[in-house]
Amino acid sequence: MTRPNIVDAGDVLVLGAGLAGLFTALKLAPKRVTVLAGSRCVTEHGASAWAQGGIAAALGPDDSPELHTQDTIAAGAGLVDPKIATLLAQEAPDRVHDLIAYGVPFDRDAKGDLVLGREAAHSRNRIVHVSGDRAGAVIMDALWGAARADERISIMAGLRAVSFAKRKNKIVGVYAIDETAPERSSVLILAEHVVLATGGIGTLFEVTTNPPSAKGDGLAMAARAGAALADTAFVQFHPTAINVGRDPAPLATEALRGEGAWLINSRGERFMAAAHPDAELAPRDVVAREISRQIRQGNDVYLDCRKAVGEAFPDRFPTVFASCMAEDIDPRIDPIPIAPAAHYHMGGVITDTHGRTTLDGLWACGEVACTGAHGANRLASNSLLEALVFGARIAADIVNRQRSAHIVSGVGVEPCNSALLAPNTKTSLGAIKRLRHIMTTRVGLVRTEQSLSLALDDIADLSSAQTPSLDLLNLLVVAELVTRDALERRESRGGHFRADYPEPSVELARRRPFTFSGDPASDIGANGGDIQNASFASI
Ligand code: SIN
Repeated sequence: MTRPNIVDAGDVLVLGAGLAGLFTALKLAPKRVTVLAGSRCVTEHGASAWAQGGIAAALGPDDSPELHTQDTIAAGAGLVDPKIATLLAQEAPDRVHDLIAYGVPFDRDAKGDLVLGREAAHSRNRIVHVSGDRAGAVIMDALWGAARADERISIMAGLRAVSFAKRKNKIVGVYAIDETAPERSSVLILAEHVVLATGGIGTLFEVTTNPPSAKGDGLAMAARAGAALADTAFVQFHPTAINVGRDPAPLATEALRGEGAWLINSRGERFMAAAHPDAELAPRDVVAREISRQIRQGNDVYLDCRKAVGEAFPDRFPTVFASCMAEDIDPRIDPIPIAPAAHYHMGGVITDTHGRTTLDGLWACGEVACTGAHGANRLASNSLLEALVFGARIAADIVNRQRSAHIVSGVGVEPCNSALLAPNTKTSLGAIKRLRHIMTTRVGLVRTEQSLSLALDDIADLSSAQTPSLDLLNLLVVAELVTRDALERRESRGGHFRADYPEPSVELARRRPFTFSGDPASDIGANGGDIQNASFASI
């Protein structure tokens, strides 16, 4: 390995420039922060900007943090940590007010009060929106504006982190590849503290509502470094992605069902009323599986917003309206064709109440983290909230620490995984397409011992490819994390449904923490992840 250039990231290096990363960076004042942003994130603002739903917070006169906590715990199907749900709900109103202070214009009524919407499995109206379905985009615009104006914050784009860097046993930065340089030189970025905020894994599946950047880079990197992970089996499939053959699939926000939109099949039947007492507002996993059952029976499924939203569609839901009209579907006149799509990963890197991971020097925030807030099934509009609450907590934890020595020198620094530092210009598009198909068909909404075992065989086959790209290597690690946890969780719970174990198991009503390599210090294979031999040590 040639000696990489060294970059001083200052007090804190934040990996990722979505909501979790930028909010943490802003809250870290007066620390000097470097945010590593994917090149597309700078212009497109990542998955956070695609969020249509909004932020859940007990702000209404009939609501309370206790009720929000109860709904969060109930949605999570036995795996939510009550302590985390409580702090999430208690701190939610303050975090919404933080965003207001950054200039986010949440929707208000004629009296100037915040308009509070309803989404599935919430017992009260408590979702704050912006311009109907534009919350993510508007919030991210405001935070990018604030971050760019803040002299403490440097944004670095075009560098892709490939391995954590450690000195002794402390994470002190990352090795990154300059993907814009023809020779793909590597750079060592050093900081006193590192925050992982790289988002989710939706791209692992053939049909997803996530942007292509949601490809599990950060999760794979943390797994290789030996961070404790949990509950990687739990993937949330959104029931209503617009089914027009686009990749990624545009979302038709759940707020439409909150407004009273119906799900109907090809025969015009409103099938959810027979499937669950809450009909269209049943928990997401229930709605997604029922839609998938209708599709397997040969039905097409539609979201019928004609009565519930009708002529108000362009004003109330401009993003969904534009996505439909781009496909010649006028949702004021036509039901919207929909299908479930991978949307959110509840599992990830285990963190404590301060967002600390099990690796010294490393915090994790947002979708890459597993805080215990979502359990087996995330309550709608709790994801942006979790990023805000834990972003603020991580910042407070770091700001309150005694300053330790930040040594801007490569002496004693080594990569947690050296194999990935070699230049790699491969693309592996065919193999990635195959992997996404395998994950959707075998590790999707309905899983069995057989489908999961076959998927592991396929993953092993693909991992023996001679020249895998970095994308493929990371996706294979994440695929194994999801599949093996799903195989070992012999029950059905929340987003994880096993047709061969259709009921929840009392013994399994707990998180399943584990490490990927079993040895935090080890490199795990010449291809950057020896999938077949990686051990899943329970911790
Ligand atoms: C939606 O708008 O339906 C998505 C909201 C969420 O995932 O929380």
